[in-house]
Amino acid sequence: MSEQPTNPAITWISEGGYWLVEDPELGRQVLTDDRFSSNTLQPSFNMFVSGRVKEECAFLLDILSRWFVDQDPPEHTAERRLCQPHFSRIKLDSLAPKIRETVIGVLDQLPGNPDAVTDIAKPISARVIGLALGLADVDAAVLHRWSDDIARFVSAVYRPDYAFAAQRSVKEMASYLRDHISAQADSGEATVYQGSDANRSLAAHTMMLFGGLETSARLLGQLIWAVTASEHKGNPDIDEVIDSVIRRFPPIRFVTRTPTCDAELHGGTVRKGELVLVSLTGSADRSSPALAFGIGRHFCLGMTLTMLEARIFLEEFLPRYPQATLDTECITTSENQLYSGFERLPLRL
Ligand code: HEM
Repeated sequence: MSEQPTNPAITWISEGGYWLVEDPELGRQVLTDDRFSSNTLQPSFNMFVSGRVKEECAFLLDILSRWFVDQDPPEHTAERRLCQPHFSRIKLDSLAPKIRETVIGVLDQLPGNPDAVTDIAKPISARVIGLALGLADVDAAVLHRWSDDIARFVSAVYRPDYAFAAQRSVKEMASYLRDHISAQADSGEATVYQGSDANRSLAAHTMMLFGGLETSARLLGQLIWAVTASEHKGNPDIDEVIDSVIRRFPPIRFVTRTPTCDAELHGGTVRKGELVLVSLTGSADRSSPALAFGIGRHFCLGMTLTMLEARIFLEEFLPRYPQATLDTECITTSENQLYSGFERLPLRL
């Protein structure tokens, strides 16, 4: 049993069997401390997933455990380096006109009383990550069904029904991406990432597609709420709205780490192998950096893309719908413990 640190910046959650770090300064410390490993998926599987489910969901567990977000150096460094150039500022600036076209296309086709999640946030996020990964004609509803199934599983790995649904979706996603990777290879186009190991390349693609879908859809929903129902309603400064939403309502609520040796932290000891959840929710205070995109070697690869998408979206949405309001009685929020945001957000334009 670990010693409870005297400082409330880190708390032992006995029902869950993990440490919770809510203090942003301590969070930054943990995320940049080399003693803390990102490889928490496999230990979580071992802790929560039964032998039968592990056997029947071997494909799912194999793909997820190859995601480099869950790896440490040197594997992480090599994998990340292969993907990095495809999210560079120069590459994304060249995508900006297409992102704007995409946003305008979605807004042009809105029904009379749209739901901001299903009619705006999901189609835009799917088409934008499709542009970044070179996927043509994406079906937003299908992509988001896959990503929702994966999100449900990764946030509550102990549920066998979630594991089976996630495996079904990862298989469909993998088959879709495999076709896409080989079509690109046949046409001589550069793929986002084609490592020497086909399974790794597939895993990296599933991670980027999932990472791009789930998070940016939740951010767009949150932004629509902010400019129609919060203190930002009216004629807001776009950078301020995005910054405030990212800080106070990060789409990913927390990330996990585990120390590779007993680690002193704020007057207590976190034992080797124990799970640490670092909260990414910050304050509105802009004097310290936001944690929403992580920090350190796993800093989000898609941040520049997401910020560009968010900015273009608000530039198009705000002047077009200055009177937009929300049907606040029909709003529903995410029950997912890991991903925040809205499930339903009915708009009156
Ligand atoms: C609102 C949007 C987004 C948020 C809030 C977000 C958040 C994060 C966070 C917190 C991490 C760090 C995870 C950790 O430290 O364990 C991360 C990593 C990552 N994100 Fe994002 N993300 C967003 C959008 C995207 C998009 C659009 C992509 C597109 C590909 C993406 C791809 C990745 C990848 C590949 C990593 C792993 C980086 C690594 O392990 O080196 N993210 N993201």
